[in-house]
Amino acid sequence: MTASHWVGRVIRPAVIVGGIGPALYLGLGLLGITAIDLGANPAEKLEHFTGTTTLVMLMLTLTVTPLRRLTGVNPLIRLRKPLGLWTFTYALLHALCYLVFDQSLLWGEILHDIAKRPYITVGFSAFVILLALALTSSGWAIRKLGKRWVTLHRLIYVAAVLGVFHYLWLVKLDTSTPVAFGVVLILLLAARWERRRRKGAPA
Ligand code: HEM
Repeated sequence: MTASHWVGRVIRPAVIVGGIGPALYLGLGLLGITAIDLGANPAEKLEHFTGTTTLVMLMLTLTVTPLRRLTGVNPLIRLRKPLGLWTFTYALLHALCYLVFDQSLLWGEILHDIAKRPYITVGFSAFVILLALALTSSGWAIRKLGKRWVTLHRLIYVAAVLGVFHYLWLVKLDTSTPVAFGVVLILLLAARWERRRRKGAPA
């Protein structure tokens, strides 16, 4: 099998199906089937789990392009869309946890919270970007937006920076995990800028 077949027939379907893994793990945990410890406050655990999963999926999405360049396996680019859509799905679940468990769908309180608490403002901004990218991920949108699509989809880096700041901002004591996400993001951005510098063209 060629690399293209591997990506198209094995890796891409595995990513499309596998993305449901964290949600399944969580769902089965709620039923007491998997070993996840939901602790004394399951709602908080759900919020944290979906937030972390969003950031992991986002980093995996950003890894696709450098990996493609490093390996020369161009079909890997086909993993970007399913990973991006899984990122949005987990961001949506995360936002729903906040809306339902933290705020009981009280829209006045929610708007006040978004406006007044900086880490919520930042998380919300990242979510809006991910929503815009998910809504314009179809072939039709790519054709319709032309060059503007590329510019718009570069905002994924902004969403990632905002996501890391959101996390850094909300932790009170141990900042090691958000810092680790920040380091990974800096490396991914550095790979992009290095290519841009060498080629003298957009990365
Ligand atoms: C509408 C948008 C969002 C809202 C309202 C929101 C809200 C929250 C809240 C309330 C928490 C828990 C804070 C606490 O422990 O007291 C949280 C945690 C978190 N959020 Fe968000 N968030 C949003 C979007 C995002 C996005 C887009 C990402 C990722 C790109 C993200 C990543 C995280 C992470 C990693 C955590 C911490 C998880 C942990 O502690 O293990 N959030 N968010």
